[in-house]
Amino acid sequence: MCGIIGYVGKKKNAIHVLINGLKALEYRGYDSAGIAYMENNKINIIKEQGKIKNLEEKIDFKIKSNLGIGHTRWATHGKPCVINSHPHKVGKITIVHNGIIENYEELKKILIQNGYSFKSETDTEVICALIDKLYNEKNDMIQVLDKCRNLLKGSYALGIINDDQPNTLYAIRKDSPLIIAIGENENYISSDVPAILDYTNKYILLDNNEIAKLTDSKIDIYNINNEIITKKIKTFEWNIEKTLKNGYDHFMLKEINEQPEVIKDTLLPYISNGYKSLLNNMPCFKNYEKIDIVACGSAYHAGLIGKYLIEKYADIPVNVEIASEYRYKKLFINNKTLVIIISQSGETADSLAALRKAKEHNIDTLAIVNVVGSSIAREAKDVLYIKAGCEIAVATTKAYSAQVAMLGLIALNIAKSKKKISNQKIDNFIQDIDTLINEMKKLLKNENYLKIAKNIYNKNNLFFIGRKIDYALAMEGSLKLKEISYIHSEAYPAGELKHGSISLIEEKTPVFAIVTDKSIAEKTISNIKEAKARGAEVILIITDELDREADFYDEKIVIPKINDLFQPLLSIIPLQLISYEVAKLRNCDIDKPRNLAKSVTVE
Ligand code: M6R
Repeated sequence: MCGIIGYVGKKKNAIHVLINGLKALEYRGYDSAGIAYMENNKINIIKEQGKIKNLEEKIDFKIKSNLGIGHTRWATHGKPCVINSHPHKVGKITIVHNGIIENYEELKKILIQNGYSFKSETDTEVICALIDKLYNEKNDMIQVLDKCRNLLKGSYALGIINDDQPNTLYAIRKDSPLIIAIGENENYISSDVPAILDYTNKYILLDNNEIAKLTDSKIDIYNINNEIITKKIKTFEWNIEKTLKNGYDHFMLKEINEQPEVIKDTLLPYISNGYKSLLNNMPCFKNYEKIDIVACGSAYHAGLIGKYLIEKYADIPVNVEIASEYRYKKLFINNKTLVIIISQSGETADSLAALRKAKEHNIDTLAIVNVVGSSIAREAKDVLYIKAGCEIAVATTKAYSAQVAMLGLIALNIAKSKKKISNQKIDNFIQDIDTLINEMKKLLKNENYLKIAKNIYNKNNLFFIGRKIDYALAMEGSLKLKEISYIHSEAYPAGELKHGSISLIEEKTPVFAIVTDKSIAEKTISNIKEAKARGAEVILIITDELDREADFYDEKIVIPKINDLFQPLLSIIPLQLISYEVAKLRNCDIDKPRNLAKSVTVE
């Protein structure tokens, strides 16, 4: 969601850095893009609707510049168009912005009374005018930005250039991500690390309400009291090779194929040598009597799988909630409740707000996060990192699987701390890891996915059904298909279909049916037969132990049976790859689906 890049330095041409950076931030989702660069002490702004290549066509790359800011916009205030795109310039101030200003209408009225007029519908232009007004009064950018942070309500990461300072870049943030990257005689700002990885892997995390002043040779960070502070320089560990496609057609396909490695890397720190048994290196879960899992999208679906596993093995109630609901609802929590927040990016605005709400109630919080040092990781009491590496495709695959794997480990740890499971049983789970990895690799190579995709890619409507853990998988399968192929689908608990939605099933409506849980398999199969009797074209995903020759399905993918903890990691692979093949047949923009952003940093 909105990407920011900024450069100050004499070593490179700012224009090249900005365009490269914007391309690296494309995965965040956007509908227009723009840059502002300093040329002969004058700011030039170029903006365009649509893809970055439209913007590139308007740029003269021979121009030399040593200072600039760039932006990919995901529309919030005002439609996607050139006027609403960033950068915005008012008076001497040019800015790019990620976030939402809640009191912009109020501020706009005051600014209009002070003689300002506005071209766009954006909240960003209002910030720009506000900074210009304050600068005309105070003439000192640090004091201006200090005042500004007291006046703005909402979330923002800002890159700012002042006409009077052609060699200086300013930045400030609150609740929207921004890093300061460090080069030699050059410095950068960016929403995320991939945008600067071509140049440096050294960076500083700008914290809420801090102001950064960057020149080519110096970075000053000011705290809330306007004192210069020393910040820790971090080194980014994922390398650029790992963020490239490595020969795959799409990042999504590459990331699906990375899952065996990612699962191994995620589990490894918590088990002893040679995949033998569980290590005691997780937070202590002994005192919790209830767990709330809170997340959005696929992370929420991973949470639903966590609920089944924790309730089954640790025998305590787990409530799974969508973060945008949880943050506003009455909570039933006490000092024996643990709130687990799951987030790949660690920056999802609703998940972050839910975390803060739990903390306000003095409840223990645990974050399951991929991006190291992200806001959720930093603010939670404890954090467990999944080791998915950089996930570029908007549709999550490897991070989702790693979240599921981590929740399985948490289930075992809680069960162990509550003496609900024997050591032998835990060891049996752990010792299945090699089998899991091998079976994942085999499933990735199954050749039936394309055949199934060819049968369904021109349908308008389909269903995913399952019961218990298979229903949670159905939800993720349905979301994957929807987000990248734009085909409408619904996930249903198999037993619920006949309470209304079965009326939508007609001749050849595709129904994906997932059957991996022996305890409920026959019930699900009865529901599949009900759908089949109404014309459904059933695509059955079934474990080998439950497989049978029968006439209630049209296509079948048989997956190996493994223990409950690891089963979802196998079952999800066909669903991911069929969605991918469908989206490819429909010529969709698989890695950057329309209207979506990788990291949803606004409410
Ligand atoms: O970064 P997060 O895990 O907090 O993101 C949560 C959702 O926005 C995310 O899982 C989204 O649903 C994905 N696009 C699904 O593929």
